[in-house]
Amino acid sequence: MNSDNGILQETPAESEVSSKYICTANHGFAPYAQEELRRAFGSVKSTLLVPGEVFAATLKASAFQVAEQLSRREPMFLRHLFLVEWEWQLPNESERSDTPITQGEWLADLLQFLLADSRLAGKKLAIQTRKAEGSLWSGSAAELKDAIQEGLAELDAEFAVRASDLIVSVFAAKDAVYAGVNVPEANLSDWNGGAIRFQREEGQISRAKFKLLEAEAVFGIDFAAFHEALDIGAAPGGWTSFLLERGLKVTAVDPAKLHPDVLASPRLTHVRKNAASVKFRENQFDLLVCDMSWSPKLTARMVADLLYALVPGGTAVVTVKLLGKKPMALIQEVTGMFQEARLQVQRAKQLFHNRDEITLYMIKY
Ligand SMILES: C[S@@+](CC[C@H](N)C(=O)[O-])C[C@H]1O[C@@H](n2cnc3c(N)ncnc32)[C@H](O)[C@@H]1O
Repeated sequence: MNSDNGILQETPAESEVSSKYICTANHGFAPYAQEELRRAFGSVKSTLLVPGEVFAATLKASAFQVAEQLSRREPMFLRHLFLVEWEWQLPNESERSDTPITQGEWLADLLQFLLADSRLAGKKLAIQTRKAEGSLWSGSAAELKDAIQEGLAELDAEFAVRASDLIVSVFAAKDAVYAGVNVPEANLSDWNGGAIRFQREEGQISRAKFKLLEAEAVFGIDFAAFHEALDIGAAPGGWTSFLLERGLKVTAVDPAKLHPDVLASPRLTHVRKNAASVKFRENQFDLLVCDMSWSPKLTARMVADLLYALVPGGTAVVTVKLLGKKPMALIQEVTGMFQEARLQVQRAKQLFHNRDEITLYMIKY
């Protein structure tokens, strides 16, 4: 900053600082991820690469500033991003020569860029590749990964899927290819595009279970440390089965039927009633979960009415359905209601396994 007659002015160098990212949100939520970036960094220059999902964004901040700000205030809808350090743009038709462009050209250029990066030699590397439909890479994303790994053989690096030292991220779009190298923490998620995958188990009761598995991994909640849980809107029993597996006693409230495998557990109590008409002991539970897929405000009121049964310091994990066109405002209103009910929001995030909803991780104070 310059001070001219006491008026602070931005120096040209500061106003020109920018960094570019490939950003990913759950399908249909890219506009909200863009809005989050706008709120955090001012104007955002962005190009959609996969409709509703993946976009390139240039932010008016250095890579350091962006990483610092995102770690201080984690976005809800931006699931994953990587810093673009190398970019190959398809020349305009008028600028192209008569010889058609082959993917070998940009791949050779990308490999040259990566081989020249002194951070990579001897490291444990995860190569994460993705592509848009009709992209400049004609094969599959897995084939692109293989081609890059082959091209980097001389680096004497170890290739890994998880727990790597560095991630090489590549996105092949229709008219451009983007790449960057960074530590896993810088990408918001160390999964490719933030798409965290769990293996479906034999006899798994519902896909909903993946949400709690993901909450456990992403929010770092040690579910096995709780003793007694209340599951509101529990049927068919995916969340309940997860909590039983973690060794908890579970009271599952739902007028609907639970899966027979869940009912077989001696640690389960099924209350086949509407959650608005149940009564428990004060401080009976140290964990409350609710995945009712219902009106967010009515859900918040119902959870608030049952909070006497959650011990102070207890944890609540609640999914909030995003109805209508203003999810940001809705989330603000609903989290305000929880806050008033003495639930402190620890994390609010649209998990990869959340469809039109977000997951709140809260603690009662
Ligand atoms: C999306 S499902 C829950 C899935 C569950 N979390 C699982 O993992 O299998 C929503 C459930 O909420 C229940 N529900 C809706 N309103 C309710 C209420 N007022 N009281 C209790 N359960 C309710 C429905 O009967 C339905 O079974």
